[in-house]
Amino acid sequence: MKKILLLGSGELGKEFVISAKRLGCYVVACDSYAGAPAMQVADESCVFSMLDEAPLRAAIAQHKPDLIVPEIEAIRTEVLLEVEKEGFEVIPSARAANLTMNRDRIRDVAVGLGVRTAKFNYAESADELLAQANAIGFPVVIKPVMSSSGKGQSVAKTAADIQTSWDYACAGMRGDRKKVIVEEFINFEFEITLLTIRQRKGPTLFCEPIGHVQERGDYQYSWQPQPMLPSYLKAAHDMADKVTADLGGAGLFGVEFFVTKDEVIFSELSPRPHDTGMVTMISQNLSEFDLHARAILGLPIANIVCTEGASAVVLATQDGSNPTYTGVAEALSEPDVDVRIFGKPTTRPYRRMAVALAKNANALARARAAAAKISVVV
Ligand SMILES: Nc1ncnc2c1ncn2[C@@H]1O[C@H](COP(=O)(O)OP(=O)(O)O)[C@@H](O)[C@H]1O
Ligand SMILES: [Mg+2]
Repeated sequence: MKKILLLGSGELGKEFVISAKRLGCYVVACDSYAGAPAMQVADESCVFSMLDEAPLRAAIAQHKPDLIVPEIEAIRTEVLLEVEKEGFEVIPSARAANLTMNRDRIRDVAVGLGVRTAKFNYAESADELLAQANAIGFPVVIKPVMSSSGKGQSVAKTAADIQTSWDYACAGMRGDRKKVIVEEFINFEFEITLLTIRQRKGPTLFCEPIGHVQERGDYQYSWQPQPMLPSYLKAAHDMADKVTADLGGAGLFGVEFFVTKDEVIFSELSPRPHDTGMVTMISQNLSEFDLHARAILGLPIANIVCTEGASAVVLATQDGSNPTYTGVAEALSEPDVDVRIFGKPTTRPYRRMAVALAKNANALARARAAAAKISVVV
C-alpha cells in the first residue's frame, strides 16, 4: 500500500484522496486549517502552513511517504527540491512544483522550448511597468509572478491605469519578490484547459479540451469537449507535450491555452488536477483525479471516454462558518445532474463551496441552472 502525503487539502485534494483510496492508498492530508475538505476523507491529517519550512520538513520526516503530492501552488518548494535529493518522490517532480509556483520561471521554460506565448515582460517597479506596457502596447494584463486565482491581477487599458495596477499587484502578491509579469491582452475566441497525463510507462495522453469562463480570476463554469479545429488541437497537444516532458515525472497536468481566430497560445500550467477539470467527474469514465492517481501509481489507463458535460461553481456570498445548503434537492431533481459539496467549514464572499455537474444534451445550461438553485446559508 502506497503512503501519500498530500500538500493542500481543498476540493481538488478531496476528490484525489477518494480516487487514491479506492486504489488502496493510505493518505495523510495537510493544510493550514483543520477540517479542510481532503482531511474529511483521508486516513490522517496534519495542520501547518505549506509555506513554513520546518513543519513541512517535519511532516515528511514523520510520515515517510512513498509519494509527496502537491495540491496547491503555495508550498515551500525548496524543501521539495531537497527531499527529492534525499530519495523522496515528489509528484510530478520537485522541479515542476518549484517552476510552476512562479509565473516567470515556467514562462521562461516555455519560451526556451519555443512554445508560443503572449508578448510579455517583467517589471519590478511602477516605472518599469509603464515602460514595458508601452513597449507591448495597451491594453495589458498585469499579474504578480507569485499569486494564484487572479489575486493581484488586473488589466491596464492606458498609461493612467499603471500605478493602480502596480499597487493592486503588490497588495495581491505572495512571497518576497516584488515582481510582476505584464502581458499582451489576448482577445481570445475561447480558452481551454488541456488535461495532459504523463504515464510512468506508456505515452502521454490527452483528455478532450475543456472550455471555461473566468471571472475575478476564478473559473465560473467549464464544459467538455470544447470543439476545436484539428490543426489547433494538434498545436495544443504538441505544446503541452513539450512543456510537460521538460518538467518530467508522472501525473496529470492542466495546461491552459488561449485560442484566437488565428492561433493557439500557451498561457500557464498546473502540474496537478485543475479546477476547470472538475467537469470530468461527470463527463469522463475516469475523472482527472482518477487519472492523476493511476498515473502516479504507475497503473494503466486503457481508455478515456468523454461525453458532453459541464460544471458550474456555487459561491458563498458572505463571511460565516458551518454553512448549510438550500436548493440541493431541487438541483438533483433533474436527470443527469450531480452536485459536489466540498464541506469547507467557513465561508467568505466568492469562496467556492460546491460545484454542480451535468451531462448529455445542453449540459452547460443545465449545470448552470443547477448551480443557480443552490444557496450557501450561514
Ligand atoms: N494575456 C491575457 N489576455 C487575456 N486574458 C488573460 C490573459 N492572461 C490571463 N487572462 C485571463 O485571466 C485568467 C487567469 O489568468 P492566469 O494567468 O491563468 O492566472 P491564474 O494563475 O490566477 O489562473 C485566464 O484564465 C484568462 O481568462
Ligand atoms: Mg490559470
